[in-house]
Amino acid sequence: MTEHGRPDGIIIALDGPAGSGKSSTAKAVAARLGYRHLDSGAFYRAITLAALRNGIHPDGWGDLTHDELDRMDVHGRPADRGYVMTIRGEDVSVEIRSGQVNAHVSQMAAVPAVRQWLMDALRESGARGGLVADGRDIGTVVFPDAELKAYLIADAEERARRRLLERGVGDPPLEEVRAEAGLLQGRDAIDSGRETAPLRQADDAVVIDTTGLTFGQQVERIVALARERGGVDRSEETP
Ligand code: DC
Repeated sequence: MTEHGRPDGIIIALDGPAGSGKSSTAKAVAARLGYRHLDSGAFYRAITLAALRNGIHPDGWGDLTHDELDRMDVHGRPADRGYVMTIRGEDVSVEIRSGQVNAHVSQMAAVPAVRQWLMDALRESGARGGLVADGRDIGTVVFPDAELKAYLIADAEERARRRLLERGVGDPPLEEVRAEAGLLQGRDAIDSGRETAPLRQADDAVVIDTTGLTFGQQVERIVALARERGGVDRSEETP
């Protein structure tokens, strides 16, 4: 047991707006430290998929109860370096990234009962520590006692450019970057403006502006901060 009282290591919370590179950064930091990556967005996606599969119309999602959510049998099964999302035991890692889920997940993420249910599931997953969790409200709501909270930001145009490059668009023309930046700013406004757990920087978060950083530099910055806060490298241990 370590001084922070978590048997597997500290909790690192990474939050930030769409396209700030949270998830890929969280995954890389977790690999560097030998920690688990907890992608909270994947949990919202899995519940969305389960509701769609069960034929529950999105107009009714606001009335979902705790019991109904339990019965959907959605779990994050601990795997080597993260969690595999399952519905009734079936691995749904690929399907939760489908266009249909993309189109509906923000509606599900805005339902207070769903957020409450999920918060319990996420906290349970993270109880032992040794975790890099990314999302929108990890440092503010889910793990307010995380030893390290980082809030990643980047210029909207830079985030847009990265997104387009990821999609294999090549070097995207400026008009396309600006159009994508507009979409991202729209999502930022919805995420920051919603009533339940809006996207907000925790008061004690370290803000990292990644606009001028390479991916490697942003990972190194967080790994260095994690070591300062008591994160011990477990990557040499057998998982
Ligand atoms: O990061 P992502 O695209 O996989 O997130 C999917 C959706 O879930 C997105 O609409 C934001 C929402 N989300 C959230 O509200 N809170 C979180 N902690 C993580 C994701």
